[in-house]
Amino acid sequence: MTIRSENQPKLPPRPSPETIMIPIGVNTELLAYGIVRPVMVHPFNPPHMCICGASGSGKTFTERQVLGRIAQDPANLIVFADYKGIDFPEYIGCKHYYRHNAVGNALELVVRIMNERMKHPERSYFPLFFVFDEWSGFLSGLDKKAQDEAKKALSSLLMLSRGASIALVLCMQRIDASNFGSSRDNIGTILALGQLSQEARRMIDADHKEMLTASGRGRGVLVTDGRLPVPITIPDVRDMKQLNERIISALNREIPDLSEVNDYDG
Ligand SMILES: Nc1ncnc2c1ncn2[C@@H]1O[C@H](COP(=O)(O)OP(=O)(O)O)[C@@H](O)[C@H]1O
Ligand SMILES: [Mg+2]
Repeated sequence: MTIRSENQPKLPPRPSPETIMIPIGVNTELLAYGIVRPVMVHPFNPPHMCICGASGSGKTFTERQVLGRIAQDPANLIVFADYKGIDFPEYIGCKHYYRHNAVGNALELVVRIMNERMKHPERSYFPLFFVFDEWSGFLSGLDKKAQDEAKKALSSLLMLSRGASIALVLCMQRIDASNFGSSRDNIGTILALGQLSQEARRMIDADHKEMLTASGRGRGVLVTDGRLPVPITIPDVRDMKQLNERIISALNREIPDLSEVNDYDG
């Protein structure tokens, strides 16, 4: 049986989230030859993604495009936590947009959804993307005990949530292990933007650190588990209004009540 809220679209049965691909930016090397080839990310295979880079490198700008790509599929659900709370005024009032001190509630909500979904692993669920802007900023604003709890919650999501059709997209300045608790290695894809320090290169991909070349705002490298790094350029947005409208619509999608069966095709 499928229990579906009224504004959830009726959708045909779909393949597993593992097959989801989202284009992010274009390949910088090919761009030099005039070839525009989107770089594809599989947010569930390997699961989870981190966008990192210094302040001003274009993380938030890129994140908005990632949100837009996710929002394009009417089956996808988004919970968006925006710790700074100043870059996305358009989303204020959306059902699943959490800003500043409320981002902890978003973390709790997603853990609860995961635990509910894990009770019935045989069912298929709407893919849910938990997007978090400034994860490390959020941690640094917490006291030690609350930090440990947040890291523990994040670790359980990173380790288990793929099985509940939940993928994480985390934005932060530095990708050091201290931001993750025990599960830094569970992030399948890293998009590193802007200039990278020696230390950042070592942390991102020690085996190919010489390939992680310096780049400016809106440019960087995409590193996916076990593959060679891909140089990537994030293009400008043609129609920001349309992009935001699409994201707003996705942020308002009903996440079926936790006590119900959040079931895709029964
Ligand atoms: N690829 C890009 N194309 C055009 N402008 C960009 C691009 N990336 C970032 N910007 C602009 O640069 C500034 C800093 O980007 P932002 O995403 O806020 O950086 P961060 O989140 O890493 O601090 C913003 O004004 C943003 O609009
Ligand atoms: Mg930012």
